[in-house]
Amino acid sequence: MKVNGRRWRTIWLADDGFSVAFIDQTRLPHAFVTARARSLSEAADAIREMRVRGAPLIGAMAAYGLSLALREDASDSALDCAVATLAATRPTAVNLRWALDDVAGLVRQLPPARRAEAAYRRAGEICDDDVATCEAIGEHGLALIRDAAHHKGPDESVNVLTHCNAGWLAAVDWGTALAPVYKAFEAGIRVHIWVDETRPRNQGSALTAWELGRHGVPHTVIVDNAGGHLMQQSRVDLCMTGTDRTSAAGDVCNKIGTYLKALAAFDNDVPFYVALPSTTIDWTIRDGLAEIPIEERDPAEVTATVGRAPGGEILPVTITPDGTPAANYAFDVTPARLISALITERGVCAASAEGLGALFPERRAALSQHPS
Ligand code: MRU
Repeated sequence: MKVNGRRWRTIWLADDGFSVAFIDQTRLPHAFVTARARSLSEAADAIREMRVRGAPLIGAMAAYGLSLALREDASDSALDCAVATLAATRPTAVNLRWALDDVAGLVRQLPPARRAEAAYRRAGEICDDDVATCEAIGEHGLALIRDAAHHKGPDESVNVLTHCNAGWLAAVDWGTALAPVYKAFEAGIRVHIWVDETRPRNQGSALTAWELGRHGVPHTVIVDNAGGHLMQQSRVDLCMTGTDRTSAAGDVCNKIGTYLKALAAFDNDVPFYVALPSTTIDWTIRDGLAEIPIEERDPAEVTATVGRAPGGEILPVTITPDGTPAANYAFDVTPARLISALITERGVCAASAEGLGALFPERRAALSQHPS
């Protein structure tokens, strides 16, 4: 996607040929700054501190993190240690684990002297594949937005509600939930996006609003609790979110608050779509509620927030009484029964084992090991 007329990806190999450049998302929306990871620990810190974030993007950074580690030490023990370090950074999004397994599985078969180069090559492919996958998600989701547009008058927009940031900043390019929106915008369909602010880290108001604004897509930021009211007023045509881990039966684990939006959508007959690359599906689990670990982050993210003061200074401010206990659950699980459809790179399907099995027949064996 474009920033000030120039095309960007969120992550790329720097021109020194080894360090990993990325857009530092902790500086947005007030500053557009790029940074570099030059070692395993810098890559792990970038994921942990959410300088890079979003399920597909942390998978890409994890792949490059392994490459950086192998450049320093390509032994089996260093590889195991790097996998463990990166896997521990964020527990919920399964793309991270997928990318680590993919790269580690590949290089383990090679002699140590060839491992770093092979890991860099594979990390680059993972990035390119993610771009192609997300663009395909965009094409499949476009059909759903086009359908909604047919029920609109010529001057009316299709109103899409989204939660968190599942746009191009959360992937390598295009994004997941926002890829269909960008495709619709390119196709000349009038769209307007309701952007949930997404406390506590404000991925909606800081990141989604920034990327939609840079691309010229009409949008309005709303507080997290406004979506239900808007749905009751028929001001939301469809909801579209991403997911950090999807069970083999179609349960979706996404940013905290997604479940409440799905409940409101269900009550108001508003279609609730979830867009995902198949790398987000955890084929080993069926019951998302029981089996997906929910990341708990620092309570300080709840008791404080960061913003720009009138003088331009970026300041953290405390918003609770001193000493107030807080809990910071980062994700929740939306059961498949509340989801109208899943949008994948292979097409749109029901949120169910049958639906996923029809699109991914090569996974039917894995699905049958987890009967309902
Ligand atoms: O904690 P984050 O900001 O990494 O969470 C990201 C989300 O929940 C996104 O909606 C998700 O990764 C899906 S999208 C690409």
